[in-house]
Amino acid sequence: MNMANPVVETYSLLAEKYDDELNLQSCWGRAADRILSSLLIEDNDQVVLDVGCGTGRALSQLASRSRPNIQFIGVEPAENMRKCALRRIGNCLNISILDACFEEIPLESQSVDYLFSIFAFHWVTNLRASVQEIRRVLKPNGHMDLFFIGRNNGQEFIRKTSPIFLKYMGPARFLESARIRTQLTREEALRLFSGIFDPRHVSAVESHDTYYDSLEGHWGWWVRIEGHFVSMAPETRKACDREVRGALSDLSTEEGIPYTIHCLHLTIRPGAKLQH
Ligand SMILES: C[S@@+](CC[C@H](N)C(=O)[O-])C[C@H]1O[C@@H](n2cnc3c(N)ncnc32)[C@H](O)[C@@H]1O
Repeated sequence: MNMANPVVETYSLLAEKYDDELNLQSCWGRAADRILSSLLIEDNDQVVLDVGCGTGRALSQLASRSRPNIQFIGVEPAENMRKCALRRIGNCLNISILDACFEEIPLESQSVDYLFSIFAFHWVTNLRASVQEIRRVLKPNGHMDLFFIGRNNGQEFIRKTSPIFLKYMGPARFLESARIRTQLTREEALRLFSGIFDPRHVSAVESHDTYYDSLEGHWGWWVRIEGHFVSMAPETRKACDREVRGALSDLSTEEGIPYTIHCLHLTIRPGAKLQH
């Protein structure tokens, strides 16, 4: 696939299936739900921004449990994801969806009270520019919850499947596909944000949660999301998929096949004088 931004194009291609049961019940759907239930809008918040809002699930759920005078804005670069989000919000007047990304947010400086994002920040193409953009749009006393995957994400799968992908893709393509996302350590994330925000207001918490699922359950998201970055001829792909499925089955335990999400939770809380 020759794509301007393969990540964005891929999400646009799979948008219509993004909210099907397979994805919602997958480790990613379950992890996103946990995060969503932890988000807290404060009493004074007037403008709430979700960057990489996907199909708008979080936005519409938050809006339904919040004051009607709060303005909710979703930013999403993938066209078909935006279409799904627009369909979901229907005629809800206090939610709008914009075509944009972390690197360039089309909002006035210092206009956002609360910025959150669920599993999108690891896809940015320019880390520094993205953090500067977040800083620009947040009000000086604005707060933020950013959830994204960290360096150790999905180690079980990586250990099992890397030798297979290396064999079928060759070293150059294999490295290229691995470079598509940025996976920071907690310390790197903290350093990045502390260089742009007041370090006393920044904190980074990491978690490693293991989710168990069947092979088909994992295969659903794996093939649709990660699978798009695995470029090879269809015949080769079939043989590779067979080996990958076999390798993942080897991971089976009584509870199912484990996948550990390494999640970084980066917060900005101007009211807080946090100790790292
Ligand atoms: C795993 S989905 C998460 C969607 C949504 N936040 C959710 O929890 O369902 C990642 C989203 O990030 C978007 N994305 C990719 N690159 C981005 C960027 N540079 N800035 C903002 N969003 C981006 C994708 O198009 C996709 O919709």
